[in-house]
Amino acid sequence: MIIKRMVQMGMLLGVFAVIGTAILAITHEQTKERIAENERNVLLRNLHAVISPDNHDNELFTDTIEVTDTNLLGTKKAVTVYRARLDAKPVTVIFAAIAPDGYNGNIKLLVAINMDGTLSGVRVIGHRETPGLGDYIEETRSDWITKFTGLSLHNPDKKGWHVKRDGGEFDQFTGATITPRAIVKAVYNCMIYFEQHQQDVFR
Ligand SMILES: Cc1cc2nc3c(=O)[nH]c(=O)nc-3n(C[C@H](O)[C@H](O)[C@H](O)COP(=O)(O)O)c2cc1C
Repeated sequence: MIIKRMVQMGMLLGVFAVIGTAILAITHEQTKERIAENERNVLLRNLHAVISPDNHDNELFTDTIEVTDTNLLGTKKAVTVYRARLDAKPVTVIFAAIAPDGYNGNIKLLVAINMDGTLSGVRVIGHRETPGLGDYIEETRSDWITKFTGLSLHNPDKKGWHVKRDGGEFDQFTGATITPRAIVKAVYNCMIYFEQHQQDVFR
């Protein structure tokens, strides 16, 4: 009698364990999908901050390549390049590049370059710079990052592609030159990469 009861209890526990595991697995799957969708939406919002949705008609998420150039793209890891096309013609490339010399390490950027070499836009999508000192690179904190739009490798010239403290044309922030210096350098290097690999990135 006792053994029968123990077997019944054991089976009941087993059933609960299976149901519990199934619920956990389903919840995990649904959460994973929701997180992935949220991340995609945030990325798309950021991409559309550097290229107008009207300027391309392809799916940016799927039209990508991975490229590597430690010196010019700021990381030894592969960098994703999003390719924008209109009527199948190349319009803009967007590099998910890194400015490695931030005050607190890597600053993640989106650098969008039009086929004529002008910048469609630059945005910071991740950083650990100091609030109140180095975070003026965020579009929500100041318009500093929007000033890159329309510039190119030759406008201003090479000398101008520095912060004012270093003899260039870009403002630094009060008491915080390291952060803007890192971004100016990274954007310039990204354009050099594009100039050298323009044919490859749209292949
Ligand atoms: C706690 C602390 C945090 C700092 N954070 C930053 C920062 O995020 N970005 C930055 O450029 N400088 C930061 N600085 C200042 C730099 O150490 C450096 O002094 C400054 O960038 C040089 O700029 P300046 O030549 O305009 O003084 C920080 C300094 C301290 C003490």
